Amino acid sequence: MFSKYKKPNAPKDAPAAAGRPKVSVTPAAAPKVDEARKSLMKAMPEKRAAEAGPVDKDKRRKERLSEIKLELHKSLLDNLNLAALESASEAELRNEINSIANESLEEMGIVLNRDERQALSQDLFFEVTGLGPLETLLKDPSVNDILVNGPQQIFVERDGKLQLTDITFKDEKHLLRIIDKIVSAVGRRVDESNPYVDARLADGSRFNAMVPPIAVDGSLVSIRKFKKDKLGIEELVKFGAFTEEMAAYLQAAVSTRLNVIVSGGTGSGKTTTLNALSGFIDDAERILTIEDTAELQLQQTHVGRMESRPPNVEGRGGVSQRDCLKNALRMRPDRIIVGETRGEEVIDMLQAMNTGHDGSMTTIHANSARDGVSRLENMIAMAGIEMPLKAMRSQISSAVNLIVQASRLQDGSRRMTSITEITGMEGDVISMQEIFRYQRVGLTPDNKIIGHFTATGVRSHYSDRFKLWGYDLPPAIFEPMVAE
Ligand SMILES: Nc1ncnc2c1ncn2[C@@H]1O[C@H](COP(=O)(O)OP(=O)(O)OP(=O)(O)O)[C@@H](O)[C@H]1O
Ligand SMILES: [Mg+2]
Repeated sequence: MFSKYKKPNAPKDAPAAAGRPKVSVTPAAAPKVDEARKSLMKAMPEKRAAEAGPVDKDKRRKERLSEIKLELHKSLLDNLNLAALESASEAELRNEINSIANESLEEMGIVLNRDERQALSQDLFFEVTGLGPLETLLKDPSVNDILVNGPQQIFVERDGKLQLTDITFKDEKHLLRIIDKIVSAVGRRVDESNPYVDARLADGSRFNAMVPPIAVDGSLVSIRKFKKDKLGIEELVKFGAFTEEMAAYLQAAVSTRLNVIVSGGTGSGKTTTLNALSGFIDDAERILTIEDTAELQLQQTHVGRMESRPPNVEGRGGVSQRDCLKNALRMRPDRIIVGETRGEEVIDMLQAMNTGHDGSMTTIHANSARDGVSRLENMIAMAGIEMPLKAMRSQISSAVNLIVQASRLQDGSRRMTSITEITGMEGDVISMQEIFRYQRVGLTPDNKIIGHFTATGVRSHYSDRFKLWGYDLPPAIFEPMVAE
């Protein structure tokens, strides 16, 4: 019935048992199945399995299922016409996979219960069409990050916490095959001579892989899953990332075109915050975004998106964020948003902020506002710009108005732990004032952080500007919370 998905050269009259559909295992594939059965039997003598304890037995059964899966997958690849699969509907494909799998199982003389059969058929479907064991995790909305450390260890991040899963790859070869599938789909290559790759999956997720020998104990894969519905300001307030008062302040800051830097550690919510803040930008403005991996999802109508590109294997064709940024300045932007400033583009970013593209935003990797400024200084120095420290600082202080600190706290919660204004220079030092902060007061017995947001009591340096632009923030916003 679904023979259009079978390879045209697959023999249609392979030996079949009477009374059941024709077996579609090719003669070449059949011995493999036999071999698999033998090796399975070798690995698991019936008697030993019977003596084993329930945990052992469970583990063996799992191993056995995974061996069977691998064998069936091979047999599927031998038998399915992959080109025809592209136009197949999901139901057709599932049917086809099931029928080939059932035939092969019968061939192998393996009996599975209903649940096992269902799980197997789901896994096979993911192997053929998707990313194998990773597929379930990619589909799980509670998972933010997927981290693979070699074939036997897959961690996920849920609610800011890392958890080890019981999902594994069969072996390194299996893991490499999936990595290869991902990177070849985006026209990239990863192998011994080119052992790491950064890419974006079809669904927008950010993907990084590093393979042996650089990855010592098996390939390392990190996936930051793409959230279609990005967390907006309201959700972030609801989740306790910051307060309504802070949101009102940030709205005034973004709308009145202050230059904002979101600073934070890895996975602290920088991109999420940047994306949410961009929601305050007026729909009439022309925004250009520049990223290494396009993650931002702006809601405005007038958005031009750019993604940098690493050079190819011959070292050609690279387009850096700095190239994009330089070009962006000729594209009449009202605002420029750089996903993450991490290198030489810092110069152009600061210049853009200083020369009429106010209201620009970016993120940097730093642990506090002060640390963020040092990071900027370091990046300028590393870009090879010879500039006296004072000039450098004065450039930074006139370019950047606000540093918003995002943090992932030890209980996994993500919060905006500080909002700091840059107010100018005092001698050689950049002066700053913190307007809001997250005050930690303790820990619950189950290690949840107790704390609250508070204003520091300092009046905003930009109050007059806010007022002029029609953002008359009530003074109560800036009053510190009184401890009870
Ligand atoms: N306040 C929050 N509450 C719950 N989840 C959040 C919050 N902020 C961010 N997240 C989630 O945390 C994950 C990491 O966020 P994000 O990508 O913004 O971090 P990042 O600092 O940009 O990371 P990286 O350093 O890897 O670029 C995402 O899956 C995001 O949806
Ligand atoms: Mg990010």
